[in-house]
Amino acid sequence: MCGIVGYTGSRQAYPVILKGLKRLEYRGYDSSGVALLKDGKLNVYKKKGKVADLEEAMIGKDIDASIGIGHTRWATHGEPSDRNAHPHSSSNGKLAMIHNGIIENYAQIKQDLVKKGYQFTSDTDTEVLLNFIEDIQKNNDHCSLEEALRIALKRVSGAYCILLIEQDNPDTIIAARKGSPLVIGIGKGEHFLASDASPIIEYTKEVVYVNDYELAIVKPDELILKNLGNEKVTPYITKLDMELAAIEKGGYDHFMLKEIFEQPSTIYDCLRGRLDAKELSIKMSGIDQHVNELMNANRIMILACGTSWHAGLVAEYIIEELCRIPVEVEYASEFRYRNPIVNKGDVIIAISQSGETADTLVALEKAKENGAFIFGVVNAVGSSIARISNAGAYTHAGPEIGVASTKAFTGQLAVLMMLALAIAKHKGTITADRYNNLLLELEGIPEKVEVILKNAGELKKMADKYKNASDFLFLGRGYNFPVALEGALKLKEISYIHAEGYPAAEMKHGPIALVDDQLPVVFIATQDTYHEKIVSNMQEIKARKGRIISIITEGDTVCPTLSDDYFSIPAVDELIAPILTVIPLQLLAYYVGTAKGIDVDKPRNLAKSVTVE
Ligand code: M6R
Repeated sequence: MCGIVGYTGSRQAYPVILKGLKRLEYRGYDSSGVALLKDGKLNVYKKKGKVADLEEAMIGKDIDASIGIGHTRWATHGEPSDRNAHPHSSSNGKLAMIHNGIIENYAQIKQDLVKKGYQFTSDTDTEVLLNFIEDIQKNNDHCSLEEALRIALKRVSGAYCILLIEQDNPDTIIAARKGSPLVIGIGKGEHFLASDASPIIEYTKEVVYVNDYELAIVKPDELILKNLGNEKVTPYITKLDMELAAIEKGGYDHFMLKEIFEQPSTIYDCLRGRLDAKELSIKMSGIDQHVNELMNANRIMILACGTSWHAGLVAEYIIEELCRIPVEVEYASEFRYRNPIVNKGDVIIAISQSGETADTLVALEKAKENGAFIFGVVNAVGSSIARISNAGAYTHAGPEIGVASTKAFTGQLAVLMMLALAIAKHKGTITADRYNNLLLELEGIPEKVEVILKNAGELKKMADKYKNASDFLFLGRGYNFPVALEGALKLKEISYIHAEGYPAAEMKHGPIALVDDQLPVVFIATQDTYHEKIVSNMQEIKARKGRIISIITEGDTVCPTLSDDYFSIPAVDELIAPILTVIPLQLLAYYVGTAKGIDVDKPRNLAKSVTVE
C-alpha cells in the first residue's frame, strides 16, 4: 500500500519523482505529494486525488531541486485529504517524511508528544513518527537525523518504509524499512529510491533491495547501509531483468486489458526452459534441489490472499489428486493470528504476485519459526516473500500493474501444475501416460489462450447486456469451483457489482433464494467429471428463471440449450481447465467495468499490493 519515490543526484528531481509516482499509482491513489529541497528550503506540495491532480496543482510552482521525495497514498490513518497526504513536515519545519506502512503504537507516542506541546496537522501515524524523531533530536543534543531515526525505530512497532529529508542536509535521503519494500537504484552520481523497480528501470538496472531493519543513508555519490545497531551492511547489488516496455500500456486502453492479452506469452514464458515436451520432463531448480522435502511432506499448507488464495484452492485439488499428499489452503491473515499446528516435515507453499503482501509475509515468518519448509510461488523477482522462502519458482508473468490480478493468476496455476507433476513423478503417484498427457496439455495452453482471446468481442457484447445487473452469482464444481470464486472477485473489484462465487452444489443450501429473473448466474460448465451434475444445477436455475451465462467446452450441445448466453473454450484436461476458464471471466469483468465507466486499473478503495494488515 502506498508508493514511495526518492531522488538525489544532479537531475531535476521533480520529473523523476512524478513519473515514478505514476508508475506506482497502482499501490494507492487517494492522494499524493512531493517534498523538494533546494538551498536549505523545503517545499512540500500535496493534493487529494490521483497523481494527475497533483501534477495539475503543481503547475507554476517552484520545482527546482535535485533532491526530493514523493508519495502516492492508500489511506490507513485518516481520510483521503490534502492534509493527510504525504509528505508530512515536522513541527519545526526542518524535516519532511513519507511512509508506507502502519505505526501501530502511534496513539501512545502521540499522547506523549501532545503533553509536550506538539500540535498535529493531520490524522496520520506518519506525522506522529516524524515529530517523535524531531523530539528525539531535540532531547539528544540535536543528534543527527540518522541517529534520531535509529532511536525512534527501536521504539515503534508496526511496518514501515520511510524516506526522510532534512533542511540542513542538502543532498541526503535517509531511508529505513521493516515489512514494506524499498529498492535503491544506483546511477552515476545519483540514486533513486522506490517501492518497486518500475520508477527506476529507465535510469539504471543496478539495484539494491533493502532488507528489514536496515537504514540507508543515500547521497548522490554514496550509499551506506546500516542495521539498527549502527553496523555497516554491505549492499548486495542485483541486476534488474525487466524492460521498460513491460511497465507501459503498449497501445491498450488499460493495463488490465494488456495483461489479459499478454497471457499466451506470459504462460509460455513460465513454461519455457522448465517444461520439456520432447523429453517429457519438468526441470525446475527450486524443485529439483528440494525433491526430498517436497515429496516427503507430511502435509502441504498453502498460504495466500485474494486471487493467489484462489490459485491455492486449485492447487489443493491438483496436488491431492496427483501427489496424494494432504493439502490445506489458508488465508494468510487467519493463519497468522491463530495458533496453527505446523510441524517439521510440513511444507508451506506461499503464493503471491507482489511478494509483499503483509499478511502472507508474517504468516510465513511464523511458519518458518516452527520449522516448516517454505516454497514460494511469487511473481515479483527479489520481493520479500521470494527472499524468505527456502525454495521456489517465479511465475515469470512480468510486472502486473492493473489492480485486478490476471496474468499472475494463470502463471501461478502453471507453476503449481508443474510442481504437482514433478512431485507426483518423484513419488510415483502418477502413471507415465497420465504424466505425459498432462505435460503435453500444459505445453499447448498458450495456443488455446490465443483462441479464447480472439473471441473477446463476444464477452464485450455480453458485458453490455448484463452491465446493469445489481448482483451476479458464479458457480463451478471441482477444479472450476475456485474459478467461480475468482470470477466473482474480478467482477466485484472492477465493476462494483455485488457478486458471489459458490460451489454449484452448495447453491441449494442458501444462495438459490437469490435467484429471480434479474439475476445473472455464470456457470463454469466445461466437459469434466462433473459435467452432468452441473447441467442439473443449470436446470435448477433455469426452472427459477435465472439468467444463465455459461462457459462451456466447444462442441457441447447441451449447455447452450439451457443458457441465455454462452462462451466456448477449447477442450482441455480438467486439471488444467482453470487456466483457460478464468480468462473469459477476466474479460467479462473488464468489459462490464469499462462499460460502467470505471477506471479498472485503479478501482476505488483498492491497492495492488496490500502491505498493511
Ligand atoms: O500480491 P498478492 O498475490 O500477495 O496479493 C494478494 C491479493 O491482495 C490480490 O490477489 C488481490 O486479491 C487482487 N486485487 C485480486 O485481483
